[in-house]
This record gives sequence, structure tokens and C-alpha cells, in this order.
Amino acid sequence: RLLIVDFGSQVTQLIARRLRELNVYCEIHPYQNVTPAFLEDFAPKAVILSGGPASVIDEGSPRPPHAIFDLGVPILGICYGQQVMMQMLGGKVERGHGTAEFGRAYVTPEKDRIDLLNGWFLDAREQVWMSHGDHVSAIAPGFEVYGTSPNAPFAITADLERNFYAVQFHPEVHHTPNGRTLYENFVKLAEFSGDWTMGAYREEAIRKIRDQVGDKKVICALSGGVDSSVAAVLIHEAIGAQLTCVFVDHGLLRQNEATEVVTMFRDHYNLPLIHADESELFLSRLDGVSDPETKRKIIGGLFIDVFQRYADGIDGAEYLAQGTLYPDVIESVSFSGGPSVTIKSHHNVGGLPEKMGLKLVEPLRELFKDEVRALGHELGLPASFIGRHPFPGPGLAIRCPGEITREKLEILRKADAVYIDQIRRHGLYDEIWQAFVAILPVRTVGVMGDGRTYDYACALRAVTSVDGMTADYYPFSHEFLGETATRIINEVQGINRVTYDITSKPPGTIEWE
Ligand code: XMP
Repeated sequence: RLLIVDFGSQVTQLIARRLRELNVYCEIHPYQNVTPAFLEDFAPKAVILSGGPASVIDEGSPRPPHAIFDLGVPILGICYGQQVMMQMLGGKVERGHGTAEFGRAYVTPEKDRIDLLNGWFLDAREQVWMSHGDHVSAIAPGFEVYGTSPNAPFAITADLERNFYAVQFHPEVHHTPNGRTLYENFVKLAEFSGDWTMGAYREEAIRKIRDQVGDKKVICALSGGVDSSVAAVLIHEAIGAQLTCVFVDHGLLRQNEATEVVTMFRDHYNLPLIHADESELFLSRLDGVSDPETKRKIIGGLFIDVFQRYADGIDGAEYLAQGTLYPDVIESVSFSGGPSVTIKSHHNVGGLPEKMGLKLVEPLRELFKDEVRALGHELGLPASFIGRHPFPGPGLAIRCPGEITREKLEILRKADAVYIDQIRRHGLYDEIWQAFVAILPVRTVGVMGDGRTYDYACALRAVTSVDGMTADYYPFSHEFLGETATRIINEVQGINRVTYDITSKPPGTIEWE
């Protein structure tokens, strides 16, 4: 196994992800925990020293134990990791003077070809992503330079004798397009067989959950979304009946959704599941409310109250399970450290654990969405379920601008079901990140048969996206849109006009509220 020593870079998890993509098992450990005794016990086959925010020049800045260089295994230092290596092995690191680099840079080759760079420099230069204030000013004895950039004369260095490699840029990020090749070469040099799988991850995750929880009880807020579902099934596999799931039904779910979720988890997976049907409570509190943020706050607050009430009924629960993913973890840490504007207050169970005095179990904390899906497959969840579009916590409330009424919700559910059916029938579901109907708070005049109608208008939304942060509208054909509009108006009583939302994000958001 490979050891990643974490010096606190924002992108350390991306290194782990790249390695998992190469089917190599790795563990990230914060530098403080990496003692000589730890190293002896862990016995890594290779080591990666991550980037980090500190400056090696500063007194007391993080270091790995010197013993790490005596293990006789390949080591790759990245950014801060490079500087630590140079500093500790007899080179020199200096600050600034116009040599800071942030963002895109180009590295050109120097000297001979080395195995680490197989597949690199096929064009004369490689694009890389830099983010450093300090720079190496003298390399350590034994090292040679194999790549330079305008502001980093030691962009790629290596001591081939000892199998030590040190790069100034971040090969793990997207903006180093060929970065994966570098990791691939590194793990080859370290003689990893690349036979690690999601199955092994599952076994490991189960072991960790058992270690953490012991014989204590765990409760889980199951939403029916992919993340909480995968977390619940995994935890159930680890600790069985010590887990109880609470499915809070706020009455703002899609057609048949509650029944589907309850049937699947209770009957198929045998999960101890409480169906908390609290739609009356939620809908009555939302009565007459039209402001989007107020809606979100009411739903978020009630969710916590309701969950807590049910949880109190479960004797002796000490842990709360959550399907937190890695992007959720980094999103909660501001990059700039400055205040950012709240566009929408997202509804989640944040604040719950402190309030209830519960400890957290978050088995998906290291994973990215597509990896969670892969783990879901591994756990045998149906493909149609794993591939489902994201559905927001506040549910249909934010797809019903203006006041929410039962009548509007009913119309919205039917229209949404027809729309999704159309998308599936045309084989477009998997190409689309998210698709749904929003019911508009206006009635418009129409004519059907020989009569006048005065019914609601609705908007269809469909976007492509990789992470929900930015999005583009989906370019349906006019035939598809025409056919869908006809079906909705014919099949859904209460709607007589259909529009298509062609706003991208930004400036729009994906949801309407
Ligand atoms: P927006 O509308 O902000 O949505 O462009 C981006 C993504 O986030 C989802 N979304 C939410 N998810 N709780 C959630 O769990 C929320 O309160 C929430 N609001 C928006 C939205 O569906 C899209 O995938």
C-alpha cells in the first residue's frame, strides 16, 4: 500500500482519487501522525508527500520524520512536499522575489528521459498547474533536473539512485491534463500491481465502521438519494441491526417516491427503517409562505426537529450516519477564508450532530460522486437507482415558486412523471445531469376542445453539468419538446401551457428557487 503524507493541501484527496483510478490502494495520514513507529507499522511500498499551505522556511513548519527517507521505497514530493524533500535532504528553499506562480504554467524537458516522464513531452511542453509562493533555489545532492518552467527552474527533479522524485506543480488536478500519466509511471516504478478494486474498498470501509462503532447504535437519515442510500447499505452490511434508518417524508417528494424508497430498503435490503410521514406538519407550516429562503429555512428547521423526535425514540443511539462526500467536505472550507455570499441555504442535517450530542459516521467522506456510484454497484444497488438525477433536500417546494398548495404539488408530480418518462423513452436520461418540471405561479388562458381553459403554466428544466456548480441547458430537439408539451397538456389536468427554460448556470441556478 501507498502512504500519502498530508501537509494540508486542498487537493490531497485528488491524489488519492488518481491512485484509486489506477487501482492502487492508498491511505492519507496527516503528517502529525506519521512517526517513525507509524512508518514501521504501516510499511508503505511507496510514499507521496502532499502539498500544503505552510512555508518550509518558517520555523516549526510541518516535516515528516527523517526516517521516511531511509525506508528504501520510492517517494514523490509535490509542491510543499517537494520543498520539504529539498530542505531535509540538503537543498535550499527561498521565498518570493517574483518567482511565485499561481495557475497554468508550461514545463519543458531538461536532460534525458526518465521513466517517471514516459508519455510526457510528446509535444515540446506540458501544461501543469502551479500554486506556490516559495521555490527551490538549490536542489539536494543526488538530484538532477528533468523539467523546468519559467518560474520554477526545478519544476521536475529526481534522484534516480534512490527513486526519489519531486515536482513543483500539482499533477493531481484537472489543469495538469497529463498528470495521471505521471502517477501511473510512479506506481509502476514502485511496482504496484494495480489490482485493487472497489470490492476491496468496501471490505476496508466495513472494517473501519466496525472499528469505529463497536457495539453502539447508529441512526441514519435516509433520504432516498444515492449518497445516503449507499452509506446506509454499507453501514448495514457492517453492523446489521445496530443501524436504524429514519426516512423523513416531508410531503414534497416526487410521484411514488416514498413508496419506492420504503419498499426497496425495507423489503429488499431488510434495513430497519422508520417511515416518518410528516407531510401534514411540513405542508401546514409552509401554508401561505412564498419567499424561497423562508421556505428553505422552515423545511431545514422542521427536518431537524422531526428527525430528532424520531431519534429520541431509538434507545441509546450514539452515532449519526451521514452520506457526506469529499466535495461536501471541501465546499464547507472556504478557499479564500473570506466570507462568501449565500445564494441558497442548502438543506442538510448540518448542526444535527452537535445538537443531539451524536458522533458522526461518514463512510463516504473520501469519495467523489462517481466513486460512490461505483461503490453502490458493488453493494448491488440497482443501476437505475444509482444513476438517478440529484434531488434537492427541500424537494418539490423549490420547484413550486410562490405559495405551495396540495393542488399544485399534485399537478407538478404528474407533469414531472410524464416529462421524465419522455426523457427515458428517448434514451436521454443518462446524458442529462438533472431534469424536472417547475410549476409556475401563473394561470394562463387556453383553448381545449371548444372550451376556454384557465390553468397553470409549467417550465421544463434539463441541464448538463459535471458537478452542479455550473450547468448548461440541454439542447432537446424541437420534436421532443413539442411531443412532451402535448403529452403533458393531454395527460395532466391543470396545465395548459408548457415552456422550456434555456438559462444556463450562471446566471441562472439549476433549481428555480
Ligand atoms: P442550484 O439550484 O443551486 O443547485 O443551481 C445545484 C445543485 O444542488 C441541488 N440543490 C440542493 N441539494 N439541498 C440539496 O441537497 C438543497 O437545499 C439544494 N438546493 C439545490 C440542485 O438540485 C442541483 O443539483
